[in-house]
Amino acid sequence: MILIILIFVVLSVTLAFLIYRRVAYFDLLHVTHEKFDIFYGNSKNSSLGKWSVCYDVDRIYQKFKNQFPIAGFMRNFTPYIIPLKHEMFKQILITNFKNFRNSDFALDVKRHSIITLNPFWLRNESWKIKRSELSPALSSNRLKAMYPLMDDSVKEFSDYITNEIEKSSSMSLNAREISLRYSCNSIASTTYGINAHAYEKSSDVLHYGRKIWQEISKSTISFFNSDQVISNEVNQFFIKLTNQVIQNRRYNNQQRNDLLSFIISLKDKKNASNIESAAAAMTFFLNGFETSSVALCYALYEISKNVRIQEKLRQEITEFCGDDKDQRVPIDTLSNLKYLDQVFYETLRLHPPLFYITRVCNDDVELMTDDSDEKQLILKGTTVWIPIYSIHRDSDYYRNPDEFLPERFDEECGGVKAFRDKCVLLPFGDGSRICLGMKLGTLQVKAAIVEVLRNFEISCDDSTSDEDAKIKPNQFVNSPNEKIFIKFKKIKL
Ligand code: HEM
Repeated sequence: MILIILIFVVLSVTLAFLIYRRVAYFDLLHVTHEKFDIFYGNSKNSSLGKWSVCYDVDRIYQKFKNQFPIAGFMRNFTPYIIPLKHEMFKQILITNFKNFRNSDFALDVKRHSIITLNPFWLRNESWKIKRSELSPALSSNRLKAMYPLMDDSVKEFSDYITNEIEKSSSMSLNAREISLRYSCNSIASTTYGINAHAYEKSSDVLHYGRKIWQEISKSTISFFNSDQVISNEVNQFFIKLTNQVIQNRRYNNQQRNDLLSFIISLKDKKNASNIESAAAAMTFFLNGFETSSVALCYALYEISKNVRIQEKLRQEITEFCGDDKDQRVPIDTLSNLKYLDQVFYETLRLHPPLFYITRVCNDDVELMTDDSDEKQLILKGTTVWIPIYSIHRDSDYYRNPDEFLPERFDEECGGVKAFRDKCVLLPFGDGSRICLGMKLGTLQVKAAIVEVLRNFEISCDDSTSDEDAKIKPNQFVNSPNEKIFIKFKKIKL
């Protein structure tokens, strides 16, 4: 009996302490914050699935940005500090990176779970080793060699659209769906060297590609942190897929300029296990699949809504790529299209696929808050939330921030570089953890935009509203709902 009472007392005191620590967390640190709900924190609406968490954070960002250098945000039971000054984003991501090496998405490495070997989910030395191991796979030379594979996927994409609109009376297609299928085919071809048949209903790769993102979203919005993240079924699917394609490649003694050939050479050089090879492949497939498809979907959506921008972009494409649609677009031409680059970055500004990143402070540090000498102490253990979505829509950095206006990146205004240098354009993050696949993702999306505009005039279907372009609740990657419909009209020569 005494033991039961003792356990009860210990549990009650621990619980009381945890509640106190949570309620008083920001006050103890003297950090400004909105009043919050004991259970949901400041994220009641997103926790209840009413909207995306980025809108909860945006409310706090807008409210405090002109008054304080940082604000507190309690997401259910987890406290975050939101930096509100661009000088601080730069220090956290770049100049003081050594104090902020890891994100709070980090998972403990489990040898059987391939997601825990993905640099995005790794921390400290394991992250550093894995990142430098995989980086050469995406060098400029390798991308050049891989580009014809991407180009094949692009051609297949426009053939698919042509077939679909011939079958349909409305000529309207679901932009989210076609972008997802294109992206799946393209990244599966460059990663695994396979045709994912993503335009067919029975595509396993598409099925598991979707499933994995659903599972990741579910685990990151869960009240309690779990190391499981992806199910055994998904894990096994990707391990089996990699084993099979490696075996086939070896058996047929095939040479192909794709990421799989890099993975095989890494396996041979480092004697990597099957799990490590599957993890490397899954890093490219997983990180590239959903992000690129979201970027393409939003690009098509914004271009379809604006005739002037569409015409201007098509003019640039025709000028540099010619009228003959069967003449393929070389990689250098694609990379040199200036207005296309502006349209691409303007899309990512308004609709960043990852709408936030986090960093955990691993040593007490003082950050400059602006040009003055004022400093802000960030304590070891604090998790910082970089609100990419809010920064991109901040009227202090972007005039008419909600307007889609690629001209804001005109050369006379300093171009994309000026905004990236200031650390207020962060679709790929920045600093040592900047997106590893930035060049590949960029090529994949730009190539598809060019192909579409060479072949089709596009307009937004009347059934689609701006509401449909909002980020869905409960998602880790910014995804619009499935109601963005775009009309495609074939351009005849
Ligand atoms: C438009 C497409 C893409 C966007 C917008 C995007 C965005 C991002 C962002 C915001 C991060 C987090 C950076 C940070 O924590 O500072 C990231 C990390 C990463 N991305 Fe991408 N990404 C895209 C495509 C790709 C592709 C195609 C690949 C691979 C083939 C890829 C591989 C990675 C990897 C491995 C990381 C983890 C890097 C690290 O932690 O060191 N991404 N990406």
